[in-house]
Amino acid sequence: MYPSRVDITEVGTRDGLQAEQQFVPTERKIEFIAGFAAAGLRRIEATSFVSPRAVPQLADAAQVVAAAKTLGPTIAALVPNAKGAMRAVEADVDEMVVFISASESHSATNLNMSIDQAIAAVEPVAAIARDSGKVLRAAIAVAFGCPFEGDVPAATVSGIAGRLNSLGIGSLTLGDTTGMASPRHVETVCGKLFEDHPEMRLTLHFHNTRGLGLVNVMAGLKLGIDSYESAAAGLGGCPFAAGATGNICTEDLVYMLSELGIETGIDLDAMIGVAREMERYLGRALPGQLMRAGPRTRLHPVSAVRRAVG
Ligand code: COA
Ligand code: ZN
Repeated sequence: MYPSRVDITEVGTRDGLQAEQQFVPTERKIEFIAGFAAAGLRRIEATSFVSPRAVPQLADAAQVVAAAKTLGPTIAALVPNAKGAMRAVEADVDEMVVFISASESHSATNLNMSIDQAIAAVEPVAAIARDSGKVLRAAIAVAFGCPFEGDVPAATVSGIAGRLNSLGIGSLTLGDTTGMASPRHVETVCGKLFEDHPEMRLTLHFHNTRGLGLVNVMAGLKLGIDSYESAAAGLGGCPFAAGATGNICTEDLVYMLSELGIETGIDLDAMIGVAREMERYLGRALPGQLMRAGPRTRLHPVSAVRRAVG
């Protein structure tokens, strides 16, 4: 019924740190990425080659990629335009990810372009990817709803997917940027994509803004989707979407999948260790739950609690 193995892409240093108030020093970012690699993550979306004026937190993308490349996992980065793609190729990133919004208002706040302009901007990026032999993937933001416009029709998402597909992009992430998805909606949007573009490989990217993140993963698993994005400690959020909060949490996702008997290749204890380091460094409680409770196999001595005697 479910896939026997699931691929997880860690986005904590990209989706997570882009939303932080403070600039996290490059060495720290690299330490976190090294922690992800050591925990067994095979694909890491490490950073973005976007305008450093738009996202100053990720201005050190080139240094981050240079260091991350030595660690073993596939290193991916977001690129918004040809300038970003050239910077990414120069840094020798493994994979570039273009991102298109499914609503005009999020496209305007996030990319300062209309949807048509943003898709047109993919063409030169695709040419750069071809010439440099880099893998190019795409992501659709606000694919399950837009915080400015509300519902986004599945046909709109599928239409954008088709245009990306005709540019030679065969791997697509559906982003639930502000946690508006619910399980039935996941079935509707993914069902439409399967019907219209059966050859496209789908990855799902949920935020837990309304508490439905892992339930939406269950909906994806039932559809046979075997690739998900998540952030350590449940960090995350788009600064250009109102009300954005954390991604689904990597170690909570790993725990759920292991309880379902689904292989991820990720060491839960090691992942909890990195999440705790991130929490310690950022100096505030982060949303992840496993890093507080531990897995269900962590037992407590009876003497640790009060006895309820009347
Ligand atoms: N990397 C570095 N600098 C870039 C850049 C890139 N990828 N793209 C544009 N710039 C620079 C230009 O060179 C120009 O610099 P200058 O003023 O010194 O000449 C300046 O930014 C403005 O360029 P322009 O093409 O007019 O961009 P814009 O101001 O319309 O912004 C984007 C468009 C796409 C660059 C910007 O909106 C962006 O980076 N968005 C990313 C948002 C994001 O990461 N969201 C979260 C992920 S969902
Ligand atoms: Zn996101």
